[in-house]
Amino acid sequence: MFEVFENTESKVRSYCRKYPVEFNKAKNAELFSVDGERYIDFLAVAGSMNYGHNNPEIKAKIMEYLSEDNVINALDMYTAAKEEFLVTFNEKILKPRQLDYKVMCCGPTGTNAVEAALKLARKNTQRSGVIAFSGAFHGMTLGSLAMTTDRTSRGGAGVPLANVTFAPYDGTLDSIAYLKWILEDDHSGVEKPAAIFLETIQAEGGINVASIEWLKEIRKICTEQDILMVCDEIQVGNGRTGHFFSFERAGIQPDMVVVSKSISGFGMPMALLLIRPDLDIFRPAEHNGTFRGNQLSFVGGTAGINYFVEHQVDTMVQEKAKIVEQFIKEEILPLDSRLSYRGMGLLWGIDFGKINPELALDAVHECFDRHMIIEVAGRKDCVLKLMPPLTISEDTLKEGLAIIKEAVTAILKKNN
Ligand SMILES: Cc1ncc(COP(=O)(O)O)c(C=O)c1O
Repeated sequence: MFEVFENTESKVRSYCRKYPVEFNKAKNAELFSVDGERYIDFLAVAGSMNYGHNNPEIKAKIMEYLSEDNVINALDMYTAAKEEFLVTFNEKILKPRQLDYKVMCCGPTGTNAVEAALKLARKNTQRSGVIAFSGAFHGMTLGSLAMTTDRTSRGGAGVPLANVTFAPYDGTLDSIAYLKWILEDDHSGVEKPAAIFLETIQAEGGINVASIEWLKEIRKICTEQDILMVCDEIQVGNGRTGHFFSFERAGIQPDMVVVSKSISGFGMPMALLLIRPDLDIFRPAEHNGTFRGNQLSFVGGTAGINYFVEHQVDTMVQEKAKIVEQFIKEEILPLDSRLSYRGMGLLWGIDFGKINPELALDAVHECFDRHMIIEVAGRKDCVLKLMPPLTISEDTLKEGLAIIKEAVTAILKKNN
């Protein structure tokens, strides 16, 4: 049935193995197969479709731009589309949050912006090591992969992954005490790092939510010890947690912020590094790349920010979060006392680890059989990860939650 893909495309393909169907249409939180079958989307292209598939307001701006022979790709030359994006991002996102960052347009994938952050942290501090956290996911190129912890991803590197010291994430062992110890003990064996890289919620890591106290403590340690704090907002930014930036809830300002996925509004490739102005010391072309000027991403990005502000997506997400949390508490947890859950905004995880980690993947299959696209995350893939587009209608959200309940009920029954 999928011979073309199986015979022609590399074995590295992955998501298609979990969702063996050929898609061609998509609207908000619904995907449609070539046969016209409808699927509810609780994956949102791994967080790149926060404003919904084919969001009409964003699409209209892109169509208008396309219809006028405007420039489509331009390296990093000055363009009208980039100017409008930079002004909009500054005026509507950064300034209202009292954030002052220079914007570096990186190569189009998140991992490229993480590489830029690594280079810039090293260049500024003249130190080579960095600290990252167990459970982290920062990307698949060598620098970011060195900070990514899952063994499958690391196994693909083929060379030693170096210059990273891992510390336990919030909630694991005594994270802050351990961090302080490796930084302060002159016999810890760890050189002073250039930066500490973190996700405020480890999404791929299993929806591990860092506490506000922990985030503030890391900020304090970084300031006191002259270490740069880099926040990876690639998956949890753009409104996902109920704030534009996920670190806002802690009232902290990272020294650098990596943004990608939904920043382009429409699912186009785009990645940015936000840099504290005094750290902006790359020489021209020192982190270059052909596809740093996708104008459709800038146009979609501007429209996405306008959509976020005009529709108060942050408030919308906080409201929908209540629906999801209440459903999990009242309808899912009672199914088995060993189930637990974590999350915020429209990013939630149901943890099967205490029953049998494999059940989370079984739940994915059961959901797929009921026409829902949903992923697993975390250690041994034991967490069912709920991440719909932020614009999902309440009806579709509730329909999706009901499917999850049916799926979890079915797998628990089979497991007994
Ligand atoms: C937190 C985080 N950092 C980095 C990346 C890498 O982004 P990309 O896949 O666009 O390279 C991802 C991708 O899922 C991510 O979730």
